[in-house]
Amino acid sequence: MNTLFSRTSSWLLGLCLALTMSSALAQQTATVTTKGVTGGDATAGATPAVAAAPAAPAGAAGAGGGDAAAIAAGDALFKNNCSQCHAVNEKVVGPALSGILKRRTIGWVIPWVHNPAKVIAGGDEYAVKLYNEYAKQQMPAFPQLSDKDITSIMAWVTSQEGVAAGGPTVANAAKTDGQDGAAAGASASATTGGYTDVLLIVLVVVLLVLVVTLAIIANLMKDVLKGRKDLDGRDREVLEQRFDWTRLYKSPVMRGVVGVVFAGVLLYQGVQSVMAVGLTQGYMPTQPIAFSHKIHAGENQINCAYCHTSVYKAKSANIPSANICMNCHSQIKTESPEIKKIYRAIERKQPIQWVRVHNLPDLAYFNHSQHTQVGGVQCTTCHGPIQNMEVVYQYSSLTMGWCINCHRESPLNTKGNAYYDNLVKLHDKSNSAVPFTVSSNGGTECSKCHY
Ligand code: HEC
Ligand code: HEC
Ligand code: HEC
Ligand code: HEC
Ligand code: HEC
Ligand code: HEC
Repeated sequence: MNTLFSRTSSWLLGLCLALTMSSALAQQTATVTTKGVTGGDATAGATPAVAAAPAAPAGAAGAGGGDAAAIAAGDALFKNNCSQCHAVNEKVVGPALSGILKRRTIGWVIPWVHNPAKVIAGGDEYAVKLYNEYAKQQMPAFPQLSDKDITSIMAWVTSQEGVAAGGPTVANAAKTDGQDGAAAGASASATTGGYTDVLLIVLVVVLLVLVVTLAIIANLMKDVLKGRKDLDGRDREVLEQRFDWTRLYKSPVMRGVVGVVFAGVLLYQGVQSVMAVGLTQGYMPTQPIAFSHKIHAGENQINCAYCHTSVYKAKSANIPSANICMNCHSQIKTESPEIKKIYRAIERKQPIQWVRVHNLPDLAYFNHSQHTQVGGVQCTTCHGPIQNMEVVYQYSSLTMGWCINCHRESPLNTKGNAYYDNLVKLHDKSNSAVPFTVSSNGGTECSKCHY
């Protein structure tokens, strides 16, 4: 009878523990699933954006004054130049562009995109206010975009506003430009997280109350039983039994569990550190001369290609020789100790020993002209806000996944490039529902990047 009591109470205790564990586990899985959905949403949202763009000319033609071709061109230009900081209906790094042509005229937008710093310096009230509002970030200049390019981007932006107001259609997903998807997913996971958190806390409290009550009952029972004289030896033994920690410590089950957990943690750490091998995102070496891109490319608006002369023409972007520096520094800041280092290098006929920042492994082939000249991808998309960097650092991860993701999502810049005419025709004939991306052209085939 008494053994039965002690058995029931320990069984109940065990049950309580199991319940606590399983509810904790349930919460974990809930978070993981929502996270999974978030990731899926983000990419799924990005793809229809491309497909939907040409489908929305009717609304846009009136509002933005563009036609389908301009909108399609604007879509590609926006993706390559603006999408890292802007979305149409959502604030990202910069403001949401929805309604921009109602706030500002195209005559304001064009000089703004060409050179925001100049518009701000010119004292434009609206621009100054906007700049102060986004004080931490300044929009880079896009002198290379033509007036027509900017008008196309605005036509696309306007077309996306129309789509968004149209109701919950498939095209509506177009406004879900990656960031939006992620944001929506994040808020969904926050609500689910909040709900399970409350549930978990309630469960834990209930279980704790149960445990304490049971412990009290068990103790009371023991006290009652101890007072009784008619117990035989075996019952007394059970009654006097105390929890033996050394036995738990020696038990093979316990050792097994500890061993497995330890091995698991070790394996996880190992995998993490192996995955990080060769990843140099954020690498920012000290350079032999305190050369600042902020002064040159930012404040003084010197074109990237003035120094990196081969970036539109060749596989590699070159680092300028000291002669290029001398075009200006034979006159400018000649007394500066940093500039004197350039003179010294020239006198000694030795190149300046710049430390290389970006470095893909030899097994991968990357070509600048293919991306900058043919693809029209902006430097800042891959290298980040170089114009604001005092010291250059590696902005992107430069992993294979980074290359491939962009190839899957970027529409090919086929405008005015006869090389692609036939391919576009073939693609439209066979599968016009899927946008013509870099990967449609084989941009994810191993041999394009490995040789
Ligand atoms: C590196 C981030 C970044 C990129 C890239 C970028 N912008 Fe901006 N943009 C901003 C920020 C930040 C602002 C707010 C003003 C400021 O602080 O300079 C802004 C403001 C604007 C505004 C004014 C918005 C308003 O509500 O009045 C327009 C229009 C604009 N950007 C268009 C573009 C276009 C078009 C492109 C692509 C060609 C582009 N931006 C690329 C960051 C960026
Ligand atoms: C006045 C000349 C000059 C201009 C203009 C200039 N750069 Fe540079 N750039 C350099 C020099 C010198 C280095 C090497 C020193 C360093 O890393 O800071 C360099 C380094 C770099 C690097 C890192 C190279 C590496 O080692 O991996 C990148 C990326 C880069 N520049 C991009 C740009 C972009 C984008 C622009 C235009 C917005 C630009 N540069 C404009 C002179 C210039
Ligand atoms: C197109 C003209 C131009 C070229 C080319 C140029 N610079 Fe400059 N540089 C400037 C200007 C303008 C300043 C700002 C001067 C000032 O602050 O008054 C400057 C400032 C500097 C400074 C800061 C000096 C100080 O003590 O404040 C350094 C260092 C520098 N440049 C290095 C270089 C190097 C290295 C190169 C070659 C890779 C180079 N520059 C190429 C125009 C140029
Ligand atoms: C599609 C992404 C992408 C774009 C766009 C891009 N770069 Fe790069 N850049 C890279 C990668 C990747 C490397 C590393 C290449 C390597 O190690 O072989 C690199 C390296 C460099 C270097 C170091 C020298 C070299 O070639 O290894 C410079 C300088 C540079 N980029 C400047 C620029 C400038 C200026 C622009 C714009 C005109 C630009 N890049 C546009 C991805 C890009
Ligand atoms: C920001 C987007 C972006 C990133 C990041 C990017 N690419 Fe690309 N890539 C493009 C675009 C756009 C094209 C198509 C250019 C054109 O019109 O041919 C392209 C084309 C290519 C091609 C030629 C494909 C063909 O079909 O002929 C190769 C090879 C390539 N990229 C390699 C790389 C490698 C290697 C990396 C990573 C180190 C990389 N790319 C990162 C956008 C990107
Ligand atoms: C768009 C360009 C691109 C394509 C397509 C591509 N790769 Fe890569 N791959 C890269 C780059 C860039 C790296 C170097 C990444 C790094 O240093 O982390 C790389 C690295 C690798 C590595 C070495 C991994 C490591 O950690 O060192 C292997 C293996 C590889 N790729 C296999 C493949 C296979 C197989 C395919 C075809 C299914 C493929 N790649 C397609 C760009 C590409």
